[in-house]
Amino acid sequence: MSPDPLPPPEAFLAAVAAAAREGRLVKLTLGKPRGVDPTLRQLLVRPVRLRGADQLTFVWRHERRDVTKNLPLAEGLRRLAPLVGAEFHSGHLFTPEFVLQLEYNRRGAPRLTRGPGTGAPPDTAHDRAKRRLLPAASQDWLQRLGVTTPSGAVREGLADKHRQIHRFVEILHHLVSAGAGAADALPTHRPVEVADMGCGKGYLTFAAHDYFRHVAGRPARVRGIEARPDLVAQCQQAAAETGRDQLTFAEGTIASASLPALDVLVALHACDTATDDALARGVQAGAALLLVAPCCQHELRAGLQAPPGLGAALRHGIFQERHAEFVTDALRALLLEWAGYDTKVFEFISTEHTAKNLMITARRRSGPARTEAAAQDVRALASAYGIRTHTLARHLTFPLA
Ligand SMILES: C[S@@+](CC[C@H](N)C(=O)[O-])C[C@H]1O[C@@H](n2cnc3c(N)ncnc32)[C@H](O)[C@@H]1O
Repeated sequence: MSPDPLPPPEAFLAAVAAAAREGRLVKLTLGKPRGVDPTLRQLLVRPVRLRGADQLTFVWRHERRDVTKNLPLAEGLRRLAPLVGAEFHSGHLFTPEFVLQLEYNRRGAPRLTRGPGTGAPPDTAHDRAKRRLLPAASQDWLQRLGVTTPSGAVREGLADKHRQIHRFVEILHHLVSAGAGAADALPTHRPVEVADMGCGKGYLTFAAHDYFRHVAGRPARVRGIEARPDLVAQCQQAAAETGRDQLTFAEGTIASASLPALDVLVALHACDTATDDALARGVQAGAALLLVAPCCQHELRAGLQAPPGLGAALRHGIFQERHAEFVTDALRALLLEWAGYDTKVFEFISTEHTAKNLMITARRRSGPARTEAAAQDVRALASAYGIRTHTLARHLTFPLA
């Protein structure tokens, strides 16, 4: 006989504890306060790495102030137990894979529901003591490329870039470690081949190199591809002078640069259809992992037709622009699903730091590709907006029209 399932609050707390211990807790919110303090609105709990230890940050949100406390993981979990169902009558557990919701109805009966996850890995950086996946060995290039000073401080004006580099490494780590052992994991019999397309000044290329070498501990060859020869020369020199012989930079275009094998494709902030060119290169090479942060989604804007009911709203330029961004990136994600990838779309970094914050990640799956159901999803979205051509569809020879 199978054991009785746990009652909803206990099942919710067990899921919170498991997510926190396994590093999958994105955040936890407790609402509908029932305690004695009438000014309390919500409790927000996030994982954080402080002085090398996993902790939980509790933020008690009051009407006019927040009270924040960091607690060691085990103690934090202990403190949560008596709150759920007693002091708070609603809870949301956010993980990359699922969102679990605990709600009490008016009669006080609890109910658990499960929905799709956030897609994004937990962000455990702390404002004061940031957890860094980049190794200490990265200090040389961070200084060399002007992100930090010789004393290791982040240079003025480069805090967003610094944050972005670290967040990129966290996401890469999440993708690489989540795939370990899966049929489509990265190769183990040869170095992992990584290409950073449109690498610019090489921040993320250096970061990817150091991640594989020092954090993942896997041999990797990392290439930056960049159209501007001056940037290529600077990056080459920095790689040579810091002794990174498996990190190279080449002048070329995303669409035509020569690449040997390709396992991990990175293209952040490659303008407009350059993101499609990069994705197509990744798919055509059978790369296991793709990470792109699109920007300047202009291609579809001029030809976008308003779906029924949206004509009046889409007279406004700003809504047209946002729809063009949405449709362009949503089509990319659906096309990647069709091409055999499990795809996630999420905010890469908070909008308070940069507007170019959407990230699409994709992991090649071992299951079926190019199914009719996935093709219909692509066609349904394209036809709703009257789209007959899209660069990634063309590259992947997907007939839109
Ligand atoms: C906005 S920067 C981003 C740099 C880097 N990926 C990052 O996020 O830090 C875009 C870079 O891509 C390069 N680029 C744009 N289109 C390209 C193409 N089709 N082929 C190669 N490089 C390209 C530009 O020269 C520029 O250096």
